[in-house]
Amino acid sequence: MKVVATYSIKGGVGKTTTAANLAWAAAQAGQRTLLVDLDPQGASSFYFRVRPRKGQKSKELLKGGDSLLGGIRASDHDGLDVLPAHLSYRHFDVLLDGMKKSRSRLRRALEAAQDDYDLIVLDAPPNITLLSENLFDAADLILVPVIPTPLSERTWNQLLTFFADHGLPRKKLRPFFSMAQPRSRIHKQTMARLRQEDRFLDVVVPQSADIERMAERREPVMVYAPTRDAAKACRALCTEVLRELAAP
Ligand SMILES: Nc1ncnc2c1ncn2[C@@H]1O[C@H](COP(=O)(O)OP(=O)(O)O)[C@@H](O)[C@H]1O
Ligand SMILES: [Mg+2]
Repeated sequence: MKVVATYSIKGGVGKTTTAANLAWAAAQAGQRTLLVDLDPQGASSFYFRVRPRKGQKSKELLKGGDSLLGGIRASDHDGLDVLPAHLSYRHFDVLLDGMKKSRSRLRRALEAAQDDYDLIVLDAPPNITLLSENLFDAADLILVPVIPTPLSERTWNQLLTFFADHGLPRKKLRPFFSMAQPRSRIHKQTMARLRQEDRFLDVVVPQSADIERMAERREPVMVYAPTRDAAKACRALCTEVLRELAAP
């Protein structure tokens, strides 16, 4: 079982969009996939029309075992299940803080899903917290959407500094350009500069109204607009990531 996360210190950069598309594409490719929505806002649960069971709170998720498995719901898509978010997830950090081995609890909890799934996709809330550190530990690959602007570049560099300062493996981080505007001078220059410094994914996800419509359609862009350029970019991103995950 592999674990991939979408993560950024910044909000509104494309984490949930990417997690939803990737989870769906992996399931389409025949992988038994579980999308775990860690953000109390519950956007990826919303995309797949899944609500948490009553009492399925942050404590149940972190307990692992049957407590975690009991919260999993089927989606409308073959091979794709969702562990939906609960509003109590806003207390993750307080909960984690009171636990032993507080940075590896998520990884241990997810072991419960090992036999049932080939891939777990984690959709994370923004910020850099104890929950984020759990995600850094649990994930084999961390996808970081970077909007090609100086402010996003700055938060990307903050993340690199955090990894360096805490001795975390930088090779887990895989950034990619999200919401890119090919005609913008700032976007073009930022992409060129960052590509020289780091291994960004080849594919660039454009700013696109087709992708924005996911919230209205409540399904991946590749389902309702498969021939549009934005959907092709999302599909290419998923292919690139799944290939990377499959590499030894
Ligand atoms: N490539 C894109 N083009 C246009 N809108 C996008 C794109 N990616 C995401 N969005 C929109 O931007 C908003 C934030 O995206 P989301 O994936 O929820 O970000 P995050 O999870 O990082 O907060 C949503 O309304 C989403 O529909
Ligand atoms: Mg989100």
